Amino acid sequence: MKDIVKSLEKTVEYLKGITQGTPEIAIILGSGLGSLADFIEGKQIIPYEEIPGFPKTTVQGHEGRLIFGHLGERYVVAMKGRFHYYEGHDTVTVVYPVRVFGMMGIKNLLVTNAAGGVNTGFVPGDLMLIKDHISFFAENPLRGENIDELGPRFPDMSAAYDPSLQKIAMKCAEKIAIGLKSGVYCYCKGPSFETPAEIKAIRTLGADAVGMSTVPEVIAARHMGMRVLGISCITNMAAGILDQPLTHEEVIETGKKVEQKFSSLVKEIVRNW
Ligand code: HPA
Repeated sequence: MKDIVKSLEKTVEYLKGITQGTPEIAIILGSGLGSLADFIEGKQIIPYEEIPGFPKTTVQGHEGRLIFGHLGERYVVAMKGRFHYYEGHDTVTVVYPVRVFGMMGIKNLLVTNAAGGVNTGFVPGDLMLIKDHISFFAENPLRGENIDELGPRFPDMSAAYDPSLQKIAMKCAEKIAIGLKSGVYCYCKGPSFETPAEIKAIRTLGADAVGMSTVPEVIAARHMGMRVLGISCITNMAAGILDQPLTHEEVIETGKKVEQKFSSLVKEIVRNW
């Protein structure tokens, strides 16, 4: 565990050495939602390969780079290409970037993802504010000896998604006339999509959307006391809802269709953060 802290310190030292101070907000961009990065001004792009201690991406179409710069008035860092458990990474690797952000002194995390709609009132293309999550089935990234330098052994998850930031997000959506649903995100490990029976079970448990990311990162962020806001893009209806198979292409295609709407909302939220 001490090795992780040493590695994190090295990564942080490198990034602090080449960037302009501490970003106010770190933004993790989900599949197909990367175009928000186009709106970042004065971009400084750092490929993951150049960052000491940083993991390497394995999935095609998931570019691996940190983008530092300004979104409106705010100095931010965006993460284009995240690490998923289904790629074979262990959970400690999955949350490594979030821990780097926390150790850099970044206090705010905006996490986004592509997700399947479990709530039958949703349609592909909807945006959903994450109000809570369910993650019974997955390994917790904090498993093992606690890293006391980062946070407590048993972090509270009662308000994992900051209630006041959720209110801001809802107001922003209203102001710019973008529909924003809200709901519970259920994390499944993937990489196979869920079965119809699993989706029925997940719905019974109280979830509105399902996806293969986000939760480990949110747990690590809350461990470090970061404020978290989460937005899902409903890219498809989850298995068994429509009479059609699920494909990764549909996920990416819908992501592309809503990119404009998604970017507008995120810009407005960041402005009002
Ligand atoms: N299930 C899990 N992850 C996903 C889905 C889904 O239906 N859509 C996008 N990511």
